[in-house]
Amino acid sequence: MRLPNPRRVSTIALLGAATIALCAPVRSADSPSLKEAFQGSFLVGTAINRGITAGTGSRWRSQEQLDADIALVVAQFNQLTAENEMKWERIHLREGADGYEFEAADAFVEFGVAHDMYLVGHTLVWHSQTPNWVFAGSNPPPEAENAAGNLPPGRFGPRTYSGPRASREELLQRMRDHIFTVVGRYKGKIKAWDVVNEAIADSGTEVLRDSLWLQIIGPDFIAKAFEYAHEADPDAVLRYNDYGLENPAKRRKLITLIKSLQEQGVPVMAIGTQAHLNVSSASFENMDQALTEMASLGLPIHVTELDINSAEGGQRNTRAGIAENASATEGGLVDEAARRLTEAYEGIFRAFLKHRASVEMVTFWGPNDANSWRRRGTPLLFDVNGQPKPAFDAVIRLATEAGSK
Ligand code: G3I
Repeated sequence: MRLPNPRRVSTIALLGAATIALCAPVRSADSPSLKEAFQGSFLVGTAINRGITAGTGSRWRSQEQLDADIALVVAQFNQLTAENEMKWERIHLREGADGYEFEAADAFVEFGVAHDMYLVGHTLVWHSQTPNWVFAGSNPPPEAENAAGNLPPGRFGPRTYSGPRASREELLQRMRDHIFTVVGRYKGKIKAWDVVNEAIADSGTEVLRDSLWLQIIGPDFIAKAFEYAHEADPDAVLRYNDYGLENPAKRRKLITLIKSLQEQGVPVMAIGTQAHLNVSSASFENMDQALTEMASLGLPIHVTELDINSAEGGQRNTRAGIAENASATEGGLVDEAARRLTEAYEGIFRAFLKHRASVEMVTFWGPNDANSWRRRGTPLLFDVNGQPKPAFDAVIRLATEAGSK
């Protein structure tokens, strides 16, 4: 399933950008924005957090800095993903119809609609950031929540629930209710969903990660999630999203999984490849190979969480878990970090352009380094002050050259 032609999407966005460019402090005078430069090729988006959609400064970001962040988002991008606000632990805290908290997610959608952005919801079914109650049997003894191996229950609570478990039917029912409620609420506004996130095992020979979803429901939890999401919004683009797909072994598992879903007629409609990269391994060759193989599945490819880590600690680590983040961003920056970041971005954007028949969307995981989960690894095209780096100029140059061919 193809997205609307970026050229058409951008016509509306361009009108907005022209107005905003007058007041945005973030554009170098004669450079086109990312969304303008790539308008004939793919959408260019960013993940945003609740600070940006709420529009009020905090102890981390002054009002002035936040205003500049917002101006950057609006000027540069035509697609938005909710970085955290639609995760189960944020949107569906307690069991039952009154267990939802929509305020932050609603603010994300309102912000995106107001700025004519293509909106992506992230994420419906994930092994992480899902509260314990989801996996618990309907009448667990109170002490079960605090059983050995669990953290105390809470918003960012346990990732491994070891108390009495829900039955397969109970968990499927909760998954269905969650998907119908969340997808249904934003039907027609959220255009694409990360339906299942990071279900593939990082190592070993098993294709699927050993998650509670897998243990309780079985491997068809993935098919069920896609079927429910399709029923809830037949027009939404439904993605399978994972990280580390630049690694050939993990990519082989992805291909096995997606082919099996396709054979069963499961409505998986796009491949989401996160692309949390580092300056040592991100290259044209590596990305070209990855995109060539993923494109063989015949589905559109969305680059969903792009960043390129320049910190010493992250040069061998391609995992995307929050638990590995501290070590992946320590040790200071690699030598010649700015040059290496530029070369890395240049390489992967050359690959994106080469595969633009398949690549429909490229989403950065944050608009600038100040808003990045890996800010110490300076991974984005704009620095902590929102100023474009040489890597920005390099990708704009590539887009301009590609457009003139
Ligand atoms: O907002 C609260 C704040 O109120 C509180 O004081 C503070 C104390 O811990 O936590 C803040 O929330 C943190 C949130 O990031 C906002 O910064 C959470 O603890 C932290 O767990 C959360 O981390 C997010 C992580 O996913 C886990 O959900 C990152 O922002 C987010 O960038 C990251 O994104 C994931 C994708 O969803 C899936 N792919 C990998 C990617 C990177 O890990």
